[in-house]
Amino acid sequence: MSDKLVVKNLKKTFGKREVLKDINFTVKEGEFLSILGPSGCGKTTILRILMGLETQTAGEIHKDGEEISKLVPAARKMGFVFQNYALFENMTVLGNVEYALKKRKELKKDAREIAEKMLDIVGLSEHKNRKPHKLSGGQQQRVAIARTLALNPDIILFDEPMSALDVDTRMTLRAELKELQKKFGTTMIYITHDQEEAFAMSDRIMVMNEGIIHQIDTPKNIIDNPADEYVERFVIKNIKMKIDSLIQFVDTDKE
Ligand SMILES: Nc1ncnc2c1ncn2[C@@H]1O[C@H](COP(=O)(O)OP(=O)(O)OP(=O)(O)O)[C@@H](O)[C@H]1O
Ligand SMILES: [Mg+2]
Repeated sequence: MSDKLVVKNLKKTFGKREVLKDINFTVKEGEFLSILGPSGCGKTTILRILMGLETQTAGEIHKDGEEISKLVPAARKMGFVFQNYALFENMTVLGNVEYALKKRKELKKDAREIAEKMLDIVGLSEHKNRKPHKLSGGQQQRVAIARTLALNPDIILFDEPMSALDVDTRMTLRAELKELQKKFGTTMIYITHDQEEAFAMSDRIMVMNEGIIHQIDTPKNIIDNPADEYVERFVIKNIKMKIDSLIQFVDTDKE
């Protein structure tokens, strides 16, 4: 698989605080990469820099072999899904998905058709004329995902998209999102505090602390060969008891 995204020597300081210290990683085409790490370690900052909402202090970002670090957010062809859906409350579900499509010259003509199709794919066709607040949290997040996928971004960045949802909804949405990723082959970077979620969904996991990447590896390798004591403590201890069944799931998923 070719490299989709290459991040080189990324640094970010806020005032005197060094929030990201020489971050280097590569994401393959079609890969699902999760980012795990304690609160304040710099996860969201990485995503905001990738999106172009924040400027790095140093370093480069390459997508499909091209430097994109200086491009405005809209030119980076990245989609985002956040915890708080960020849907337009005054528009219907269909309107929400259609909105961004209509703003794209090349997609405008087919906006309705694409929006309808995406809502069908996420199972929300029957709710398309409702306002977002009439939907459950899980349904609203499906709208947000449909809206993002509809624009056919090169990469989708997720920042704790499930953290406001109950456990059952998370489990369902987890499986649905993996299906969508297979169907569309979209490269995804996914921040979560839920280690089970990361281990169940990811091709690789990045384990961070205090602006440093401690390990970036497959779920299995992280379990079998934690890079250092931090990874051992942060990940393994938390998840060891549940891991046998999960590894089975991850392995079957790959075939
Ligand atoms: N605009 C800003 N100005 C100053 N400091 C900031 C700014 N944005 C983030 N920070 C600081 O940078 C550090 C990393 O923040 P970031 O939001 O990336 O953490 P995170 O890993 O996403 O945490 P969480 O899991 O709580 O969401 C934190 O100490 C935060 O206070
Ligand atoms: Mg964050």
